[in-house]
Amino acid sequence: MTTTGWAVVTGASSGLGRGFATKLASDGMPVVIVARSAGVLHDLADELRETYGVEAEVIVADLSDATAREALVADLADRDVEILVNNAGFGTLGDFVTADPDRMTEEITLNCLALTQLSRAVAPGMVARGGGAIVNVASTASFQPIPGFGVYAATKAYVLRLSLAMWHELRPSGVSVLALCPGPTDTNFFAAAGNDSTMTKRRSVSQVVQTCFDALAKGSPVAVDGAMNAVMARAAAVSPVRLALLLAKLIAGGQH
Ligand SMILES: NC(=O)c1ccc[n+]([C@@H]2O[C@H](COP(=O)([O-])OP(=O)(O)OC[C@H]3O[C@@H](n4cnc5c(N)ncnc54)[C@H](OP(=O)(O)O)[C@@H]3O)[C@@H](O)[C@H]2O)c1
Repeated sequence: MTTTGWAVVTGASSGLGRGFATKLASDGMPVVIVARSAGVLHDLADELRETYGVEAEVIVADLSDATAREALVADLADRDVEILVNNAGFGTLGDFVTADPDRMTEEITLNCLALTQLSRAVAPGMVARGGGAIVNVASTASFQPIPGFGVYAATKAYVLRLSLAMWHELRPSGVSVLALCPGPTDTNFFAAAGNDSTMTKRRSVSQVVQTCFDALAKGSPVAVDGAMNAVMARAAAVSPVRLALLLAKLIAGGQH
């Protein structure tokens, strides 16, 4: 029987999502874990139940699919959600002109539309209860356009801007919203994006998860993980656009 609200983590089958789900379960929260990989999710749910004695529900869903999103939206709207971590997302390294249009649509749908609809599903309940938190996983890619990673960086700029507006709107109701901005992190992300040998200096999942919960405790609207990433993000935001583009291409997108 659930005595506290649910923690819902999308993209919980690997990387950061698995880290968030494990941390929340270790804090004693019942968790709902969402992704496409059913077997991995069920194994994780078993592990969380056995290790932490919490409830763990699996929802297998492709969040780029409208019907699956509708079902999850309906589920979340009816559930007492204490924290939603909108973490599912992916990027695609490569030039815009040769990008696969279907993959591009899937990327924008998952990174932006799913995150927006799931946030909208839980926000009214949180406001009514006067508390709760929504963590939207953005990126250091949110702070500048990135040639060779253009669609991804644009989706994460959207996540950052939406989250900041939500933070301002929901704060008076006692609801926290955080745009979490990891830099390169040791997950499956770069392999999924098309080149695992790029950006090899990476932070760990546990460092990013710690940054997230430290920032939530402070009520911050945005948190960049790692001091060097924070400096680079700030520099990119104030650099002349041509310089920012050149540096971004060299640092992040130039190796595909
Ligand atoms: N790692 C980095 O360097 C880095 C840096 C900045 C931001 N981020 C962001 O961090 C978040 C998590 O990524 P990660 O680094 O942990 O990468 P990851 O290990 O590749 O994990 C991505 C997660 O998203 C899920 N996912 C992908 N497509 C999905 C879909 N259509 N529907 C539902 N779930 C889907 C995957 O599960 P299934 O395949 O089972 O569906 C997986 O659980 C992403 O939003 C990413 O943009 C990562």
